[in-house]
Amino acid sequence: MSDSPERSDPLGQLERGEGGGIATRRGFLKASLITTGLGLIGGLTPPMARAQDSCAPPSSPNPPVPFKPDTSVPILPRKSAASLTSAEIQKLKDAYKALRQLTESNPNDPRGWMQQANVHCFYCGGNADGSDIHQSYRFFAWHRCYLYFHERILGKLINDPTFRLPYWDWSNTNSRTIPKPYTNPNDPSNPLFDANRGATPTDKIPAQYVSQTVMNGILRTTRWQTFMGTNTRGGNLENGPHGIVHIWVGDPTLQDAVPDMGVLETAARDPLFFTHHSNIDRYWAVWLAQGGGRTNPTDPSWPKLQWTFYDENSVLRSITAGDVVNFQSNLRYSYPGTTVAHAAAQAVLPVTEKPVELSSQPVTLKVAIPPELHSLSAQAASARPLSLHLAGIEAPGKQPVVVHVFANNPKASAATSLAIPSSLGYFAIVPSSLKEGHQHGKREVTIEVGKGLIGQNQLSVTLVPAAAGGKAPKNTKVSVDSIYLSAD
Ligand code: C2O
Repeated sequence: MSDSPERSDPLGQLERGEGGGIATRRGFLKASLITTGLGLIGGLTPPMARAQDSCAPPSSPNPPVPFKPDTSVPILPRKSAASLTSAEIQKLKDAYKALRQLTESNPNDPRGWMQQANVHCFYCGGNADGSDIHQSYRFFAWHRCYLYFHERILGKLINDPTFRLPYWDWSNTNSRTIPKPYTNPNDPSNPLFDANRGATPTDKIPAQYVSQTVMNGILRTTRWQTFMGTNTRGGNLENGPHGIVHIWVGDPTLQDAVPDMGVLETAARDPLFFTHHSNIDRYWAVWLAQGGGRTNPTDPSWPKLQWTFYDENSVLRSITAGDVVNFQSNLRYSYPGTTVAHAAAQAVLPVTEKPVELSSQPVTLKVAIPPELHSLSAQAASARPLSLHLAGIEAPGKQPVVVHVFANNPKASAATSLAIPSSLGYFAIVPSSLKEGHQHGKREVTIEVGKGLIGQNQLSVTLVPAAAGGKAPKNTKVSVDSIYLSAD
């Protein structure tokens, strides 16, 4: 039996659900870890041998219909998996439950869980010509298309056009474990669970691979060839944190390539794949939003790269890299804080690592100012002040937002005067509609922190929701996605 030709085919074994054993893994590829002058690169190699077309999508009776943006769909943010409300977690679970059920009830429906996973397999060498969307500048655009159609399918299955995929913000110190919804409960009753994970719910990805410092190093380059890769090689994010997270989920010791996540052809069988890739997609936007000459590949063939996917109505669509550059207007989702050009990465200091939720009480955030930042600020002609950025500010509709901001004054309350030296000012957001369900768009404000701080190594920022007359507001609910300092 072990001599049968099928048994020597790794994919065949995996499809029979025997991927977990060491003996099965042995014939499989090894993850490669290469150290370069730029830091550790966690590369993920696709399998070499496979059954031909074993993961081909169902054929379509009709030729592909070119993608067109659906402007009737609202543009809504993809949120960090760590900040989902319990209602949002439930929707996410319901959607994947329906996706899995589709595979049971109709295995040939191109939208079902296994068919979706096979799309990734097919495009990483599983098609007859063996071409691969990894390890080149196809990587970002192809995965953006794939996630978009996957997101629309999930939304359709739960009848909710506002459904958006979450992202796994692993660079954040508080998000180094697999996001809770995916492991809670950690058994098959949870549609987000995958039995083929080596990482346990409490294992943490080592900071040295994925920290904000590592990400700042990756985001620093202004060359698309470095960040996004070229026609013939992958970029530094693909071969860095992207690869390590895949490998780590399969085997947290980083020793073996363990399906599902640790092997490309099976990776998308784990719902975690899509939240990991949503973060990769977000960093593409973060990288471009820094400005400073960063662009998508200027190679004229890049925007014309074209692929096909089934959409939420099982219609085969063709879509190009050029179609997905403007993801907000064309794909109807956003990432908070990526629309504004930020200061150069090395001058940016994250103050908060998860969204700050404000109700009616003041919140104080403490931050250490590293010497780089104040010396950078001090060097600048006439010692320019530091700027405090509050990005992705959001509040429910019908509610004005007034927040006073103080530096090094943790006792500040709504009654504290804005005219004292520790006051940095305030921001106010006007609701744009009183219609039911209307949301404020995300806003970003920048406040100068002033030269007084240069040379200091500590800053505390107190955000004070306020109403007139020194009163606290009644029902304020404001969230701020991220707060950071820059010397720009
Ligand atoms: Cu298509 Cu993370 O791999």
